[in-house]
Amino acid sequence: MDKKRQQKIYELLKRSLKLAQSGEELPAEWARELFPPERREYELVYNGKETEEQILADTMAVPFQEISTFGTNGVDWHNKLIFGDNLQAMKTLLQMKEDGKLVNPDGTHGVKLVYIDPPFSTKRDFRGSQDQKAYQDKIAGAEFLEFLRERLIILKQLLAEGGSMYVHLDWKKTHYVKVLLDEIFGENNFLNNIVWCYKTRTFSKKYWNRKHDDILVYKKGSALHTFNWKVKGVLENYAEATIEKYKLKDENGYYRLCGRGIAGSPIKSAKDVDPKWEKTHPEWVVRNYLGKGFAPHDYWNIEIVNQSAIERIDYPTQKPEALLGKIIKASSNKGDIVLDAFAGSGTAPAVAEKLNRRWISMDIGKLAIYTTQKRMLTLRENIGNTGNKLKAKPFTLYNAGLYDFENLRNLPWEDWRFFALQLFECKDEPHKIHGFQMDGKRQGSSVHVFNHFKEGHISSQTIADLHASIGKAVGDRCFIIAPRGAFLFQEDYLEMDGVRYYALRIPYSFINELHQREFSALVQPNDEMAINETVEAVGFDFIQPPQVELQLMAPKKSTIPIKIKKFESRARLKGKEKISKHDALSMVMVDYDYNGKVFDLDKAFYANAIKDNKWKIELSTKEIKGDVMLVFLDIYGNEARMVIEQNKLTPKARCAKAKK
Ligand SMILES: C[S@@+](CC[C@H](N)C(=O)[O-])C[C@H]1O[C@@H](n2cnc3c(N)ncnc32)[C@H](O)[C@@H]1O
Repeated sequence: MDKKRQQKIYELLKRSLKLAQSGEELPAEWARELFPPERREYELVYNGKETEEQILADTMAVPFQEISTFGTNGVDWHNKLIFGDNLQAMKTLLQMKEDGKLVNPDGTHGVKLVYIDPPFSTKRDFRGSQDQKAYQDKIAGAEFLEFLRERLIILKQLLAEGGSMYVHLDWKKTHYVKVLLDEIFGENNFLNNIVWCYKTRTFSKKYWNRKHDDILVYKKGSALHTFNWKVKGVLENYAEATIEKYKLKDENGYYRLCGRGIAGSPIKSAKDVDPKWEKTHPEWVVRNYLGKGFAPHDYWNIEIVNQSAIERIDYPTQKPEALLGKIIKASSNKGDIVLDAFAGSGTAPAVAEKLNRRWISMDIGKLAIYTTQKRMLTLRENIGNTGNKLKAKPFTLYNAGLYDFENLRNLPWEDWRFFALQLFECKDEPHKIHGFQMDGKRQGSSVHVFNHFKEGHISSQTIADLHASIGKAVGDRCFIIAPRGAFLFQEDYLEMDGVRYYALRIPYSFINELHQREFSALVQPNDEMAINETVEAVGFDFIQPPQVELQLMAPKKSTIPIKIKKFESRARLKGKEKISKHDALSMVMVDYDYNGKVFDLDKAFYANAIKDNKWKIELSTKEIKGDVMLVFLDIYGNEARMVIEQNKLTPKARCAKAKK
């Protein structure tokens, strides 16, 4: 080290010491001077960036609980719609990939194509000066980047060799995410920065108007990736002026005549050709056919889903089917598995279905899940949602992370055993210790799933007996999984002779010592703006339907107001203060003609709007076509359902009742 640098380091150390004494953080550029990165390449540095290994190890896999299946059962594959945090759900999919349950028709294991359109807004309202706001924005930016990076890392693992990944972003974050994607996939695997150009009415006079999104495209590994560029819908359409020139038609399509370039021919370009020459001088001319389109390029002009679009669904941030059509046609083949981890209104699964691909989709928002469910049940065959009705192939709705305990309890023993193992991230590895049957392993230690159906309860004596038979052969700890009610002791673990016997209780067991991260709930939005928020849930919980009391009010001209007299969430969030009463409401979703089986979303009222309307929702009388189902969702994803019979709602019936 030369003298000058020595002096600089000395000065910096002195100043850093002062900062540390006053409790302030070291500025990033000083830290770089003092601890220059060892690696020669470049990388994006920010606070809280974990190693890939840590992310893969720390992410919990949560089991999928089947809620309902649409379409005929009994087929090998069901498309999957998953309610839950995508990080944890994808960890479970990763397990499925490893178990050979995600296979494409070409034999590759994993997902062939990933499209994601992550949320990017942060609604946090920062008070203070511009500088403070800019600083806070950067902190939120770093958190967002890590949120996304964790998911990109797992997504790459889920991709099949030669699979493709499309990441949809806007001008604010594209460049940061590009650097992260280069780190994860390798710069050599970067294929495109697609620019989706669109028109919107809003405009600014302060800067160039932002009328495009970016979609970054990567492939996984060195295997040949799918790119069907010659397909209609992927090829670029010819301009009208070009099509105009191809006026002649035969059995092979539209064509125009061109010169053959034969000496003596008067033809220099196509426009010099006289159509008569096809008969009189066939040696001079040749038929040039209009193709399906020309080679695709990386900027796409596709209209946004505007107010009058046929495909429009009332879900903010909905992307056009044509956009997904291009992506899915180009980068997958029939039967391939297509994954969208931020489903929103379900554009990707809808288009995948139309193009005969298999699909897996997930979202953390119940509104998104019900919107997608309805969309899949009311598909039209063409992209843009026109044409004949299309019956979706069988698909299953799963919960991942928030479970229905009653349903679980009714599972046959083998299914319960498997679910219980998955819930606590145990490997299904039956083995015996001194003749005693263990069911699996958790972090290297033995796990026993207690058969409460047969054996009733577990007391401290049961553990003592167990210890007497297996003793130290089990190692220093052993896990016992059982329903909460089966344990007759309260402690998290009992220790015998230095061996700890942990009680893993269902429905709820959260043992701080065993988890790296605190559990957090599947937080639901309470206004439209919050739909584009990043939400992160960790761990699992069990459904606790909120308590709701309603009052039907006097009908108005075109609506029937219903007052939410009481709303109380029963969710217990460990270590968090309980959110009181109506403040825990996320939204009310309505099915105006409930068929007695499936909730078919017609309308959503956000809590903030309901609050402004004095905690009333107004059902539109003209929409009521049968019994009405109301789903009251709390901000943790728990729902209470109520059905109101049609005859209690129609003004006629209500007037008649009043007269009596
Ligand atoms: C921009 S929207 C997707 C829109 C979608 N491409 C469409 O065409 O409708 C982003 C979605 O990500 C969901 N989301 C946010 N955080 C999530 C998480 N951790 N896991 C799963 N979904 C999440 C939001 O609920 C929202 O529906």
